[in-house]
Amino acid sequence: MAASRPTPVCPRPEGVITRGKTARNRLRGSDHFLLQYDPGLLRRAAGPFDGALCVDLGYGAEPHTTLEWAGRLRDHAPGLPVLGVEIDPERVERARPHADQVTDFRLGGFNLPLMAGEQVRVIRAFNVLRQYDEDAVSPTWDRLCEQLVPGGLLVEGTSCPLGRVWTACLVRRPVDRAEPWQLEALVLGANLGRGFDPELFQTRLPKAFIHRVTPGEPVYDFIEGWKRAAHETRATTVWGARQWFAAAAAHLSGQGFDVELRPRWLKQGWLVWRRPPVPGR
Ligand SMILES: C[S@@+](CC[C@H](N)C(=O)[O-])C[C@H]1O[C@@H](n2cnc3c(N)ncnc32)[C@H](O)[C@@H]1O
Repeated sequence: MAASRPTPVCPRPEGVITRGKTARNRLRGSDHFLLQYDPGLLRRAAGPFDGALCVDLGYGAEPHTTLEWAGRLRDHAPGLPVLGVEIDPERVERARPHADQVTDFRLGGFNLPLMAGEQVRVIRAFNVLRQYDEDAVSPTWDRLCEQLVPGGLLVEGTSCPLGRVWTACLVRRPVDRAEPWQLEALVLGANLGRGFDPELFQTRLPKAFIHRVTPGEPVYDFIEGWKRAAHETRATTVWGARQWFAAAAAHLSGQGFDVELRPRWLKQGWLVWRRPPVPGR
């Protein structure tokens, strides 16, 4: 994927230009999470995965987060090609000087600007859908997932300005091409060095969930259950926020929520709710 290659024709980028606010290292938490969540997806090289891209959709006014992601991915899987896609032509022009043999920046939208034969293993879209209406979410997931190789992953998330609190929907394209996407998990990530408060996540949920924190909705029960769990396990704060976070997750699991209790993940401040009900379905 050389920078000197011709830019593909993207007929008409789907979507709208939105605010381009970004910040250096804002997405480091979710970057590290992805490396641990599905390391095989990034290393796979057989069949359609041979040379398949990692796409950063909507990288914003500056390409910092794409370049940082590329560096972290390549520590894990050297040479992995990364493509930053932006719907704002000026932002693409600003990013293009940073392109190299394995990093490219192209103008495009939800219809990705791919060259003939290019395949996509993962799409990251952070702080993009947040500026769209809720009813755009499901068609956008459809559109993006159909451009992934079977088994590929869409990471669609939201973060606070400095990335200390972030959340993401993990949406999988099943191996069986005929199957519709599956919402594999909702992940909630915290920088535990700054403490722990479930309340902070309520305003940082992905678009699919943020307007659904109302009685009768599963995500409302989840957040209320997590708050209750944090309250009930408060005594563990004497050992620090990490212990408290893990104890609250175990309590939440005891309430019947399917949350991942892997100590390594909890220690990092990652709460993974597996197979949450798809909002509105
Ligand atoms: C708030 S910035 C997010 C920047 C970066 N991802 C981050 O989290 O720091 C959102 C960016 O998404 C871009 N965007 C919105 N819709 C898009 C679409 N359909 N295709 C490509 N880019 C899009 C906007 O132009 C904007 O630059």
